[in-house]
Amino acid sequence: MKHAVITGAAHGIGKALAHRFVRAGYAVTGVDVDEPGATIAERELDARFVVADLRSDAGIAHICCELASTEAIDVLIHNAGINAVGRFSDVSLEDQAQVVAVNFCAPMALTAGLLNTDRFAKGASIVFISSLSHYTSYPGAATYAATKSGLASYARSLSVALAPQNIHVMTVFPGATRTAHARRYSPNNAREEKRMPPETLADHVFRGVKKRKRLLVPGFGNRIFAHLGKYCPCLMEYAMRKVILEKL
Ligand SMILES: NC(=O)c1ccc[n+]([C@@H]2O[C@H](COP(=O)([O-])OP(=O)(O)OC[C@H]3O[C@@H](n4cnc5c(N)ncnc54)[C@H](OP(=O)(O)O)[C@@H]3O)[C@@H](O)[C@H]2O)c1
Repeated sequence: MKHAVITGAAHGIGKALAHRFVRAGYAVTGVDVDEPGATIAERELDARFVVADLRSDAGIAHICCELASTEAIDVLIHNAGINAVGRFSDVSLEDQAQVVAVNFCAPMALTAGLLNTDRFAKGASIVFISSLSHYTSYPGAATYAATKSGLASYARSLSVALAPQNIHVMTVFPGATRTAHARRYSPNNAREEKRMPPETLADHVFRGVKKRKRLLVPGFGNRIFAHLGKYCPCLMEYAMRKVILEKL
């Protein structure tokens, strides 16, 4: 039985990913800070969970310790992420540091901890959940955008470095997805119905892993936005200012 490890798996995209991999016959280990949420997800998904806070060294050490005696890891998905949204002067440095800790430092520390203890199976995949903001900008969440672009850059170099070991690295750039995260951080939550369901995103990620893609922008609409952000940056930045920044 193949083994997938997914962070932030008690809710949202992580939970949908856990469900997708369980359905495909994987043994899934979820990681989450939310203990009651993890208990419910464990029961619903038939997955096991490690309760840990990815922000702390102790949390990362606990996850590595729990994974030291399991089957080798075929797929590791760095999914857990948080945001801090607001006018730049209103977002405290402390909140920004939390975003950096969860979104950027934790994936690096967990990847290093598991690589250094040789926990990956032959032909394993490491997946980083970045964000479409890498292409479009994200006024009102500059630190979040920086962590997501940082992840993409880290993953790009890692993919070259790990190729000789036959470890595949994929970066995913989701657009707005229908989860608590999107509801929590959008200015007036007016576009709930237009967001991609997390189950659809999970299908895209699953297929991307199977095809060993390096970069994945899931969904036609998101690919258009990514192209506009890349080739018409001023237009996309204008749109992001109108849709997000001016509504904060
Ligand atoms: N939703 C979107 O529109 C969207 C778009 C682009 C990219 N993404 C990215 O997709 C990923 C998943 O987002 P989502 O929408 O599914 O978010 P979500 O609904 O908030 O779920 C994230 C999960 O991660 C957990 N988590 C947060 N901090 C943690 C920590 N320190 N240690 C361990 N677990 C922690 C959360 O627990 P708690 O509930 O207790 O906080 C929650 O279970 C994130 O990286 C996000 O940046 C989301």
